[in-house]
Amino acid sequence: MKVNGQNYRTVWWEEASLFYIEQNLLPFTFRIAEARSYTDCCDAIRNMSIRGAGAIGAMAGFAMALASVQAPDEKYSEFLLQARKDIEATRPTARNLFYAVEKVYNHALRTRQNAISEAQRLADQDAADSRKIGEIGNTLIKDGFHIETHCNAGWLAFVDYGTALSPVYLAHEQGKNIFIYVGETRPRCQGARLTAWELNQAGIPHVIIPDNAGASLMARGKVNIMIVGADRIAVNGDVANKIGTLEKAIVAHEYGIPFYVAAPTSTIDFHCKNGAQIPIEERSGDEVLYMEGVTGAGKLERVLICSPGSSAYNPSFDVTPAKYITGIITEKGIIHPDTRSIANLNVHLRESGKFNQ
Ligand code: MRU
Repeated sequence: MKVNGQNYRTVWWEEASLFYIEQNLLPFTFRIAEARSYTDCCDAIRNMSIRGAGAIGAMAGFAMALASVQAPDEKYSEFLLQARKDIEATRPTARNLFYAVEKVYNHALRTRQNAISEAQRLADQDAADSRKIGEIGNTLIKDGFHIETHCNAGWLAFVDYGTALSPVYLAHEQGKNIFIYVGETRPRCQGARLTAWELNQAGIPHVIIPDNAGASLMARGKVNIMIVGADRIAVNGDVANKIGTLEKAIVAHEYGIPFYVAAPTSTIDFHCKNGAQIPIEERSGDEVLYMEGVTGAGKLERVLICSPGSSAYNPSFDVTPAKYITGIITEKGIIHPDTRSIANLNVHLRESGKFNQ
């Protein structure tokens, strides 16, 4: 994707170093950061300098590759195993993180160069899958559509293109007249900060709406379709995504509005039977109690916005039952969220050699 006319990925390997876009500073400052060790990568994932299912998956794969470079010859496999555990402990919900770590770890057991090549292949695959999701999802978007989205499932959340926003970019490129409602997505405001910034970069008409305005817009017939991303998909079609997704899906169902999830097949956890088995991250209550923004002087500041002395509870994801989901837009096509369709997809993926899980 282009930032100020220049092409970027969210994370990339260059001459034995790893670079990424520091998302915690956006939309106020665009800065490239460097990770020199796998523990740098762990910190970046944990503090959400890099976030979004695909982007943390790619970062985790590169982190595993960096670990193989760091590992001393005499303790190579012990070092790799510890690194794998550390990387997997950073964030629990996004399937892509575990998917990438497992694949790169297995390659790292052979050679360091194998690990680096596999991490790069996964990042390239992520970008290609996202692009394909855009092409397939675009067929659902008609000229004049008003589209609602939640959180950030644009290119910042993947290596490139994104998932929920990939069809939006393509529809806009093809000259379709579209308008996007961007839910702010408290507490970290990935919608207001990141999705809105991405749409601004692409020149796509949009407004930011309060998280609690979605139902009212749907009730008044202002939304034609809702498209969101996913952090993990169970084999029965239940979907974990950013907190607040569940409410939107129920409301969309009530008002007969198509509700689509866009995600690559690497987000499907074929070992996870249903949504109840998906681990849900709980983050610090401070993310609810405090808010961050820039002052008129351009200084990034964090302020308390709640009653002093109160504590906060901050579950980061929720699970939307399959019955509320119209379809899942994958790079292999739009699938119905049910056990049989997802099992068929798994067979197809195994036959085409994409998965060895
Ligand atoms: O906590 P985050 O920002 O890493 O959350 C992940 C997300 O961005 C969303 O849940 C998104 O909709 C799915 S990831 C493309």
